[in-house]
Amino acid sequence: NQWTREARYRPLSDVDPSVYQAMKEEVRTSPWRFSYHIQPPTGLLNDPNGFVYHDGLYHLFYQWFPLGPVHGLKYWYHMTSKDLVHWFDEGAALIPNNDPDSHGAYSGSGFIKDDQVHIMYTGNKRDADWNRHTSQIVGHLRSDGRIEKHLPPAIPNVPEGYTEHFRDPKVFQDASGIWYCIIGAQRSDLTGCTVIYQSQDAEHWTFLGELQTNYSTFGYMWECPDYFELDGKGILLFSPQGIEPDGPNYQNIFQSGYFIGEPLALPDLTFTHESFQELDFGFDFYAPQTTEAADGRRILVGWMGLPDISYPSDIYNWAHALTLPRELTIEQGRLRQRPVRELTQLRKETLFDETILFEQDVTIAEAEIFELVMTDLKLSSDSFRFSIRQDATEETVFHYDAVSRQFTIDRSRSGAEVPAESFGTSRSTILAKDLHTLRLFVDRSSFELFLNDGEAVASGRIFPKTSSRGIVFSGEAGAHLSLYDLS
Ligand code: FRU
Repeated sequence: NQWTREARYRPLSDVDPSVYQAMKEEVRTSPWRFSYHIQPPTGLLNDPNGFVYHDGLYHLFYQWFPLGPVHGLKYWYHMTSKDLVHWFDEGAALIPNNDPDSHGAYSGSGFIKDDQVHIMYTGNKRDADWNRHTSQIVGHLRSDGRIEKHLPPAIPNVPEGYTEHFRDPKVFQDASGIWYCIIGAQRSDLTGCTVIYQSQDAEHWTFLGELQTNYSTFGYMWECPDYFELDGKGILLFSPQGIEPDGPNYQNIFQSGYFIGEPLALPDLTFTHESFQELDFGFDFYAPQTTEAADGRRILVGWMGLPDISYPSDIYNWAHALTLPRELTIEQGRLRQRPVRELTQLRKETLFDETILFEQDVTIAEAEIFELVMTDLKLSSDSFRFSIRQDATEETVFHYDAVSRQFTIDRSRSGAEVPAESFGTSRSTILAKDLHTLRLFVDRSSFELFLNDGEAVASGRIFPKTSSRGIVFSGEAGAHLSLYDLS
């Protein structure tokens, strides 16, 4: 294995610029690169970080290891956008080159203070014995595009009762202007939870304690918490690790979901909430983060990948992408997630727009990178199915059974190589209502499926040949189908 500790913690500044340029060129021209998703120029992307809107621009950073498709020395890479659709590459913004973040500028969030973009993130440091030392660091974005760190760390240590798995601060402010941050933690008894700090100025922080939920033993670590309020409800998002599969639920290596409940009455730490719900029933989704848009919408972006899973594109020295931004609302006490409305700007040519009856295997079109919209579904039998990225040997299959209202995605034949096969090659959900609409975004190596106008969402990576482009419907049913080229 070439990924020795030394190779993983080698800084980008040690690499000759011409070598980095050559790496970028190799990645740029490699297979399975995305057409309209945020992806790393080289190396590995993971969590979305620092997502914030300020002065006409969305700022979205991501965890980045520049030198290969593995987890190593993490930077924050910076993207900006006016519309959540077209993203401008701002380059690396946060460089792990100080003692407290010597082994990585780990995940964190963005906030606006004094009319400036600020961030709070986790400094990851390993000592000579490779013991981890964790701190939380505040910084702000300078006009030259770099983050200036406010050192020493705002929260230099882990409080009594928790291990060094203590990270990913999400900062928010209450109506009276008091700042809070919520941090993902592991208790000394190796169970997961979140803790909350309070501040008057977002620089000096006081430990309040642990958020009290109904889940006192739920996995060994809660990563990437996010708290926000929407429609008079309090919502806690987090990514618990160590949850066993349960029927169709919790099939991936790690999970990501939420509690919905009464708004927090901080500094009181009691959270009254409903049971845990997964955010995405697909194969590749983790560590989402939200922000509030200019017009008050709550927008979520996730990592379309998972820790500890390898992907066929790794051999080309890059890995992963962020999901499309989703707009959150609450309906019937649950989160609904719709693709942000701005995404219709991606639509180029209309390839198909008709009400049709499916018979046996109707190929409605051929496309590689597209959006499919299905409305007015009418079933005259118990089920229907369709395949995308299909040819004689490959297909990714979507199947709906109207009797059980079960929707299933099967990627077992999605390409010559299928990621994470040991975690199963299909995922399913039971819809609360009969299937009536479906929206599917397909990029060169991904799909994102939205059922019943955001009732259920599934994301996944697929690695088909570029020439596998069939979109084939079958079953006794009819619907209106619109297909847009997004390439
Ligand atoms: C989640 C995570 C975070 C951590 C970051 C490091 O994927 O493990 O908890 O801050 O990635 O890259």
